[in-house]
Amino acid sequence: MAFDLAESLDPDEVVRRLLRRAIEAVDADRGSVSWIDGDELTIVDSQDPAATPLPVGSSWPIALQAHTQRAVATGQPVISGAIDAGTLSGPMAEALGSVRHTLSLPLASDGKVVAILAVSRRRDVPYDDDDVATLRDIGGVAVLALRNARLYSQAQEAARAKAAFLNLAAHELRTPLTVVSGYVSMLREGSMGMPDERWQRPLDIIAAKCAELAALVENLLLTARLEHSAIEGEPAAHLLDLGEAVVEAVVRSAPRAELLAARIETNVGSQPVLAVADRDHVARILDNLVNNALSYSSGTARVRLSVSAEGGQARVCVEDGGDGIPEEMQERVFERFVRGETGSRHTTGTGLGLAISRQLAEMGGGSLALEWSRPGEGSRFVLRLPSADQD
Ligand SMILES: Nc1ncnc2c1ncn2[C@@H]1O[C@H](COP(=O)(O)OP(=O)(O)OP(=O)(O)O)[C@@H](O)[C@H]1O
Ligand SMILES: [Mg+2]
Repeated sequence: MAFDLAESLDPDEVVRRLLRRAIEAVDADRGSVSWIDGDELTIVDSQDPAATPLPVGSSWPIALQAHTQRAVATGQPVISGAIDAGTLSGPMAEALGSVRHTLSLPLASDGKVVAILAVSRRRDVPYDDDDVATLRDIGGVAVLALRNARLYSQAQEAARAKAAFLNLAAHELRTPLTVVSGYVSMLREGSMGMPDERWQRPLDIIAAKCAELAALVENLLLTARLEHSAIEGEPAAHLLDLGEAVVEAVVRSAPRAELLAARIETNVGSQPVLAVADRDHVARILDNLVNNALSYSSGTARVRLSVSAEGGQARVCVEDGGDGIPEEMQERVFERFVRGETGSRHTTGTGLGLAISRQLAEMGGGSLALEWSRPGEGSRFVLRLPSADQD
């Protein structure tokens, strides 16, 4: 029997599918799923094509129906006949009064009965052991699917809380940092009187550290925003010449490359390679990759950027002849706050660059991968984006 129960991560939808499946599989006229809440049952879904279904949210004592009580107490399925009409009133009397056969299956999670799946027939065809076996199969998958759905919604809630916290923390940091940076630049420029010679170096260091902190705060804010948009929606995409994006990234990195006496080469080819992508996102990804290539190279850094089209995709390849990444770290460097041994040798950096870059690439329908790396020899990162030239 094929199940689509496990495909949905919305708990309500899982319950709806479970019940629909159960009613069809055992040829029932109606059915309901109820959560156990202390001594009471609460209807979470009820389906009844021929009459008004039981109202969702309505509750009644477990002890009201002997068969339900037995199913909860023993954890075993119970086959029973007509429901005792004397115990019913209002909408329950209407929905259950004409029922002649009932099968109640307790659903257990971690050894505890947490819900009851009940199906019934108005026709005089009793349930048998085959029906019990069929319902048990469905119930087993349903419990797993429900647990996954619940874990998923808890995880989403946690992700939202984390994003909100990151956002708040970064905003709180940004304000005082702007004030400190402002005063430092006034002091360096001499607008509060020419600084003493001996202050020059400490002021330069404070300014550099402020810039590092500002970059960190920006990365935290972006991480929080990405977390949010990954849940809420997608970025806008435009036609982008990747060769141009690469040349612009090289221009932006030129001052740092010069300081490090690094060599950056490009190979953008004569034909433009057009991608459908967000220009700012691509710029940020390339900046992160080039900065890493420059940072994690002992001795003179050599970096090479190339652009090509391949199998309906546009690619940018960023290679360096730097320190490389050991095999066991090659996937982990894309995780947040993870820095390799090469990273910890350098003091700056927070381990967010690659995590942000991969997320930005994926949001735009592309990917970012470390295609090759060997310690002491170098690394090759490849950014793939949807091509505009797909036919
Ligand atoms: N080109 C590279 N060569 C060698 N190691 C690299 C390279 N790129 C990244 N790494 C390793 O991967 C780690 C994670 O990189 P990532 O860019 O995510 O963070 P970071 O550079 O440490 O900090 P930041 O958030 O400032 O970018 C780095 O700390 C480094 O150890
Ligand atoms: Mg980095």
